[in-house]
Amino acid sequence: DDPTTSPFDVAALAAQQLAEATGVPRHDIALTLGSGWGKAADHLGEEVASVPAEQIEGFSASGVVGHSGTLRSFRMADGRHALVIGARTHFYEGKGVRRVVHSVRTAAAAGATVMVLTNGAGGIKRSWTPGTPVLISDHINLTAASPLEGATFVDLTDLYSARLRAVAREVEADLDEGVYVQFRGPHYETPAEVRMAETIGGTIVGMSTALEAIAAREAGMEILGMSLITNLAAGIQSEPLSHAEVLAAGRAAESRLARLLADIVGRL
Ligand code: 6GU
Repeated sequence: DDPTTSPFDVAALAAQQLAEATGVPRHDIALTLGSGWGKAADHLGEEVASVPAEQIEGFSASGVVGHSGTLRSFRMADGRHALVIGARTHFYEGKGVRRVVHSVRTAAAAGATVMVLTNGAGGIKRSWTPGTPVLISDHINLTAASPLEGATFVDLTDLYSARLRAVAREVEADLDEGVYVQFRGPHYETPAEVRMAETIGGTIVGMSTALEAIAAREAGMEILGMSLITNLAAGIQSEPLSHAEVLAAGRAAESRLARLLADIVGRL
């Protein structure tokens, strides 16, 4: 967190420790599994190693229920290695944006060229029911933060790779797409904020992913983003929102999502 320390040096050290802890010198693809997506790891291939996140530089155990706190390495059927990040730091934890994107930078330093970012999120589109998986086509970052420091003018056109979205649709042709709006959280939005998000072009509201995608793009990775709609956003659904409801919707959809995501990753 020292501003004079390069976050890329910290990520390089973390990647080196990860290579030693897993015995895997290079990971080809990385996945951050958000609420409802955790079981996807079970279908990725053979688990080579599971490392408690706090053993790796820059990571700390997650204090959020539903987020596991481990880094796992899998050997896929085609021989590629996948790094599964079950230790997401959210911007709302207040530890700063460097912490938020450290896992993405570590994945890039570990060799990953594809970053799969998943989350559980609120839906604005009324036709979506809890349990619907949605491809992220673009985002609106309402955190007022950026992971980039200094004059780093990164292009964000096609941030969420059209190529990777097309690959996902080879697995499930009718996957819907949405524009993800990242709020800081940790409170859910007010109905007025949800109406604003809709007015400015958003269809999904959440508290992660956008900042991580920006860091992944800076690192030159190709990005696939997917949201699990766990509930409709405030004011779209009439019932109040609860974290328990979000987790329950995640659990209910988990097995189906797990196979879907593993099938997609196998083709990326
Ligand atoms: Cl409605 N909003 C946000 N920001 N995150 C969520 C959510 C809503 N539902 C699940 N995660």
